[in-house]
Amino acid sequence: MADHKIPTLGTFRSLSSLLEAFKNPSAFLLRLSCAAGDIGQFKAGPVHIICVNRPEWVHTILVEQASAFRKMPAVKTLSVFTGDGLLVSDGTTWARHRRLVAPAFHRQRILAYQEVAAQAARETIASWQDGQVIDLEREMKRLTLTIVGRALFTRDVNEIADGFSRDVDCALDYVNGLSGRVTLPLVRSIARRNREALAAIARVDATVRSLIRARRAQPAPRGDDFLDMLLAAQTEDRESLTDDEVRDEVITMFVAGHETVATVLTWLFYLVARLPEVQARLEREAREACAAGDTQNSAPFQRPYALRVYKEAMRLYPGGFTIGREAIRDVRLGNYIIPAGAWVMISPYSVHRNPAIFPEPERFNPERFALENEQALPRAGYIPFGIGPRACIGGQFALMEGQIVVSTFAQHARLVNVTPGEVGIRPLVTLRPSRKIEMRVEKISSD
Ligand code: HEM
Repeated sequence: MADHKIPTLGTFRSLSSLLEAFKNPSAFLLRLSCAAGDIGQFKAGPVHIICVNRPEWVHTILVEQASAFRKMPAVKTLSVFTGDGLLVSDGTTWARHRRLVAPAFHRQRILAYQEVAAQAARETIASWQDGQVIDLEREMKRLTLTIVGRALFTRDVNEIADGFSRDVDCALDYVNGLSGRVTLPLVRSIARRNREALAAIARVDATVRSLIRARRAQPAPRGDDFLDMLLAAQTEDRESLTDDEVRDEVITMFVAGHETVATVLTWLFYLVARLPEVQARLEREAREACAAGDTQNSAPFQRPYALRVYKEAMRLYPGGFTIGREAIRDVRLGNYIIPAGAWVMISPYSVHRNPAIFPEPERFNPERFALENEQALPRAGYIPFGIGPRACIGGQFALMEGQIVVSTFAQHARLVNVTPGEVGIRPLVTLRPSRKIEMRVEKISSD
């Protein structure tokens, strides 16, 4: 059968869509991706972007033909911050780093991080007064930064959490092209934001380098946290990571493992606050597990309902808004050809809204992830962590962390939404809420 032309997406048909593309390219791309159906394309000058949503083709791109693609060049902007870390590197550099980093995410290590997550969640709740109104996203970022910091670096990052989190935020906004927003009227304002972002990047860099220096100065054996593992890691030919490479991976883990989880948790608590029956069931599960003397030490933490709620939140609001690739050679998808050089955009946000896979896709329904339902999902129909060789290395860590935070909160506090009106999405590197979400804390008494 003859090849078909990939359907063209209406892109810059109006001034408002042109403005949207300038103002927030991520939001614009996400809108196009949701409108693409199985597949759709658009061209803007030399840029040729193809949005793919059909699960079997997503599987072809990310798994079967993974070697025919590399990371989309736009992703490389992150390297201003993360250097040549796993998120942005390709080819032999990526393969070598992935091999060296993988042991830090081994199942046994993740078990050892469980109590770290539970402790940080308990401390977060203890830091709130009963009745206090909190900025949900900010608090979730503080919490996940503490968890990633302690679990991966065995450091108490509380003292630097505020400043560090702000710096990471500022750097991410910058690398996402926000500081160059063309709609900002004053060039001076753009320049100032760039200066602030570069200073933030320099401060994060200095903090991480001093952590590495301090660790190198300690006598061996040092310990077995993430940084120790990176410093000690060696390939079969006894090659190890330089301090610069360790720095890149450390920052990559902070960036990849902090805001993604915080964003999912923010949406999760926002959604659950509207669903008293979900909240009640979470509380019941936590109470019963606690009464049964279930602890989070060496056995895997088991809160099946909290895990379902977390997976459903990730379906509707997957942390990252897109998975981008550039085709190195022509690749066939059914009757279509992805030509070499084209950029491919796979958005978990739109893949997860396929009504054939998830009926009533906008409805929050954790039962979609009851074991038998989850097992019936088509491959590549649910991809919050991507799939294939470049899938999220921290996926199991994130599932452990999310489940523990949700269940620990259900045991000790209820979050009541006091934000007026609906909150939309503001896709940047992650799927952030469009504005501040405020929640009132109601502590749950343990009697
Ligand atoms: C809910 C939380 C998370 C989500 C939704 C998420 C999502 C993703 C996705 C979709 C990818 C694949 C990107 C691609 O194929 O281009 C990815 C890659 C990655 N993630 Fe995550 N992630 C999460 C948490 C974490 C955590 C906790 C860590 C580490 C502590 C982490 C570290 C990474 C790294 C290093 C990569 C690059 C892997 C590689 O290319 O080899 N992520 N993540």
